[in-house]
Amino acid sequence: MQSKVLVIGASGGIAQALIKQLNDDTSVDDVVTVSRQAVAETSSKQRHVQLDSTDESQIKAFVNEQKRQFHFTHIICCTGILHSSDGKTLKPEKRSEDMSGEQFAEYFRVNTVVPAMWIKHAVHIVEKDGATITVFSARVGSISENGLGGWYGYRASKAALNMVVKTAAIEYKRRSPKTVLVCYHPGTVDTELSKPFQANVKPEKLFTPAFTAQQLMNHTQALDPEQSPYYIDWDGQKINW
Ligand SMILES: NC(=O)c1ccc[n+]([C@@H]2O[C@H](COP(=O)([O-])OP(=O)(O)OC[C@H]3O[C@@H](n4cnc5c(N)ncnc54)[C@H](OP(=O)(O)O)[C@@H]3O)[C@@H](O)[C@H]2O)c1
Repeated sequence: MQSKVLVIGASGGIAQALIKQLNDDTSVDDVVTVSRQAVAETSSKQRHVQLDSTDESQIKAFVNEQKRQFHFTHIICCTGILHSSDGKTLKPEKRSEDMSGEQFAEYFRVNTVVPAMWIKHAVHIVEKDGATITVFSARVGSISENGLGGWYGYRASKAALNMVVKTAAIEYKRRSPKTVLVCYHPGTVDTELSKPFQANVKPEKLFTPAFTAQQLMNHTQALDPEQSPYYIDWDGQKINW
């Protein structure tokens, strides 16, 4: 079976490392990348499509186009937001007084709705003989492991994403039984998303995007559709939902 990978949110720190690794991997045949930005195609097997995933009609148009061409063995959604670049419009809440409807809506729009819309349409473009859909969740989205508090909107949007994946996995078992769904926690990775929060992270716990890409590909290789959905971390360990 040919290996065809779709990377969504392709301009991001982790996504860029994934794309490099996929382009370098001789066992991967095609790499399609999707982003709001123009992203360089750095190998002959990479094809980039510029679209805005927050607009569902653009996802639908892309999927309608793709389903005539080929189906993917791995779809990886790297979209996510934790803070805005100005550090003011959007920043994780420290206490309940910091919560706002606008901020919640933005977290959910990017962290939950975007991957949900891809999961909705992806059923038409997954390789039916075996495929994986990986969405970037986070450990802070675990309800049972929340011992620290704070970050209301980000946590809630990732917990909601986990629930979308759990629910979709039930439907995929019927409509595309050989598709595995994965909620993935990459650890703390040195990208723009984590920059303002790296001060308290031990150096050995701050992962490079390249290491993260390698770990993700290792841990999503041979998953069992019967066990889908998975909620796993960078070390391949299960996280409690
Ligand atoms: N870095 C970490 O420490 C860490 C830890 C736990 C979980 N994660 C998760 O891992 C994923 C990748 O994170 P990263 O570190 O690579 O982050 P990043 O470099 O900031 O990239 C995030 C991507 O999300 C998309 N995005 C951001 N804001 C958006 C908006 N307003 N509308 C639509 N799309 C938007 C962008 O895609 P475009 O290419 O379309 O612009 C961007 O490339 C995220 O889901 C994040 O929550 C990261």
